[in-house]
Amino acid sequence: MTAPHDYRLTLGDRDFAPLMIGGMGVDISTSEMVLEAVRLGCIAHLSDAMIPAVCDRNFGTKFVRSKVDNHRRLQNEAYDENRIPKHDVHEYRQAQFQYVSHTVEKKQGTGGIFVNCMEKVQAGSPQEILEIRLKAILDAGADGISLSAGLHGHSMRLMSDHPRFRDVKIGIVVSSWRALKIFLRTASKVNRLPDYVVVEGPLAGGHLGFGEDWANYDLKTILIDVMQNLKQEGLSIPVIPGGGIFDAADALSFLQAGAAAVQVATRFTVTQESGLSDHAKQAYFNAEEKDVLVSGVSPTGYLFRLLTSSPCLNSNLAPQCIPLGYAMDPKGHCQYIDAYNATGFAESGVKLPVLEKVCLCHHIGRYDSWTCGSTVTRLKETVAKNSNGLYILPSTEQVVREYLEM
Ligand SMILES: Cc1cc2nc3c(=O)[nH]c(=O)nc-3n(C[C@H](O)[C@H](O)[C@H](O)COP(=O)(O)O)c2cc1C
Repeated sequence: MTAPHDYRLTLGDRDFAPLMIGGMGVDISTSEMVLEAVRLGCIAHLSDAMIPAVCDRNFGTKFVRSKVDNHRRLQNEAYDENRIPKHDVHEYRQAQFQYVSHTVEKKQGTGGIFVNCMEKVQAGSPQEILEIRLKAILDAGADGISLSAGLHGHSMRLMSDHPRFRDVKIGIVVSSWRALKIFLRTASKVNRLPDYVVVEGPLAGGHLGFGEDWANYDLKTILIDVMQNLKQEGLSIPVIPGGGIFDAADALSFLQAGAAAVQVATRFTVTQESGLSDHAKQAYFNAEEKDVLVSGVSPTGYLFRLLTSSPCLNSNLAPQCIPLGYAMDPKGHCQYIDAYNATGFAESGVKLPVLEKVCLCHHIGRYDSWTCGSTVTRLKETVAKNSNGLYILPSTEQVVREYLEM
């Protein structure tokens, strides 16, 4: 019987198993998870979300820690974005390089270490920081970069003078042919097509590339539309769907429809190697449909899928843009600041929950913003419970093998 492992993903001169683990920030797709999948011949992504903070935690650096300490004295004031300092671009370079090379140095096997680079993570100085982040990934020796969370109108140009620009694998994550067409136009200006396209559907975890009508869209329909349009343009670029692909049967049905591989994430959130706490992993296993929310609480402006039990919801934390500030727009402003100031705290001195938005940088960095794909409700079908009534965490290897039926 045919199984996903009978297919291969070919990207130029490289050949992989047809399974990609999507980047899961902040350090949920850990170095350990990525290395395991790569050992088994797959592509797996590190996420470049909030890397300076991740480095402080993983390697004891002080990129963010010192700023957090200085910031404490301002906790009880109304927040004024004029106080927000510009972020230090060299810090970004150092952190990004350290984080990626730490994994690349340990690589074994034929898979690929890729990094997911989100355009929307701006920290107030957009192009300068984006360029630094992209080039540090290339310098650190990653096999590939997936450009996500934005149209990436400048990203190809920003990398184009790097010696690895023509050799590294570069992909773009989109949710429609329309977005891909815009990207292809900008890519053609530097004469460099993407090596692959990830089409992310409405059931994915993290931020969604859809509006409030997300439920009207279907991944397979978008995949076929993108493949047909590429063909019409005479372009032969592998297309990789992601979002709601839960098991080997799902993967096979997409491969048979013409997908070059599949991108998955939610199944790996509960693995032993995942960066989530054990408490959060059990919450993911226990999730029922009523516990999954597609919400506008992210200050990035994108919809965000998360569990209603996420500790971040309805918090009244003062904005943390001074020490963190990853979700600030190009003018250095964050939507959470407005939502926080609108509670009237400055005038009344009474702390009320901020319902409209969450201070995502702070909460996601503390693993208390529990984002997930819609198939989170099915995780409980995949493992047994131990004698204490807790779900037994699978290994990354186990989940990779289940997807590929190796
Ligand atoms: C916990 C979690 C964190 C994620 N973080 C990111 C991220 O940092 N950047 C990004 O582009 N996508 C992120 N995603 C999206 C995944 O990379 C992936 O494309 C998608 O979730 C696949 O769908 P599935 O989860 O239904 O398998 C995240 C997904 C999850 C579940």
